[in-house]
Amino acid sequence: MTATATHNMTAPPPTVAWENGVDGALRMLDQTLLPLEEREITCRTVEDVWEAIRSLRVRGAPAIGVAAAYGIVLGVQSALGDDLETFHRRLAEVSEYLATSRPTAVNLFWAIDRMGQVAASSDSDSARELAEQLLEEAREIEREDREMCAAIGRHGAELLEEGSGVLTHCNAGGLATAGDGTALSVFFAAAAAGKSIHVYADETRPLLQGARLTTWELQRRRIPVTLICDSMAGWVMKEGKVQAVVTGADRIAANGDAANKIGTYSVALLARAHGIPFYVAAPSSTFDFSLATGADIPIEQRNAKEITNGFGKQTAPVDVDVYNPAFDVTPAEYIAALITERGLIRPVTAENIAAVLEPA
Ligand code: MRU
Repeated sequence: MTATATHNMTAPPPTVAWENGVDGALRMLDQTLLPLEEREITCRTVEDVWEAIRSLRVRGAPAIGVAAAYGIVLGVQSALGDDLETFHRRLAEVSEYLATSRPTAVNLFWAIDRMGQVAASSDSDSARELAEQLLEEAREIEREDREMCAAIGRHGAELLEEGSGVLTHCNAGGLATAGDGTALSVFFAAAAAGKSIHVYADETRPLLQGARLTTWELQRRRIPVTLICDSMAGWVMKEGKVQAVVTGADRIAANGDAANKIGTYSVALLARAHGIPFYVAAPSSTFDFSLATGADIPIEQRNAKEITNGFGKQTAPVDVDVYNPAFDVTPAEYIAALITERGLIRPVTAENIAAVLEPA
């Protein structure tokens, strides 16, 4: 992996961008350095992409899916001159490998699966030609994601009243997708429709996606934003500053239970206690119909150092016992509506989700 450039404030590097043809590479903005540095890195191997996903250089469910799709193309580059059987073996190997990068966001597995289906149904008779088809599929996943973000924004904007305070948790913006984001796309679309809104961004311990990334994005897009500590969310609701909550999701079960960044569940409970609607914005690629409820969503456990030594400074006694689940699951009953690219789903029930999203 190479660092290629540090950008200035006017033109941030894209979240992910494929460069050149099938022999190309994957550029991405290294999100671990934001907001202090806008540095682009170039992934040239599947190992680079695995590391970038695992260490959250690229993060957010849809962006992870797009990065993994391109990661597969990088992984099969070593087999471009091989026979098809060897190429398929390599494809299976890199797919399995990338699937171990992070466990919760289903978009990762969805994208890997889509790439596998292209290979399985291909009638190409050369490895290079098949790799080109895989690259085209990765580009298509990226294109679709951009369109899904825009549609989510259009559908969600109608939920926000003029003059609303809206709270969000973690980062579900352009940094988390190939487009404008999911939750943040709703804010951008509401603002574009002329509504004045004010966003409260939870800082989102332990990795501060809200403080580092969401405020960065909203400032660039000139959306008024106020940063709060996670522990302040209940109080700003009590003070009447928040009329709606919108978050993203990493995986949504068939009944609407939604996994998202740790702390989201607490926000949903707080919203319920204050009579504030809690919305989850997510594309169809984030739904996992193989899981009846959220009870079986795998929750990523991350390194204790993220809590005890966040960003390099030790803030807890050495060897203290730490629990660091990266996600939690909000039960469907706390979600006022799901905002998808195919429209709003409310009330959130398995039947309504299936009616809007499941293929006939
Ligand atoms: O650990 P992260 O930063 O990848 O977690 C991201 C989130 O929880 C986002 O809210 C979610 O992926 C939705 S992104 C549109």
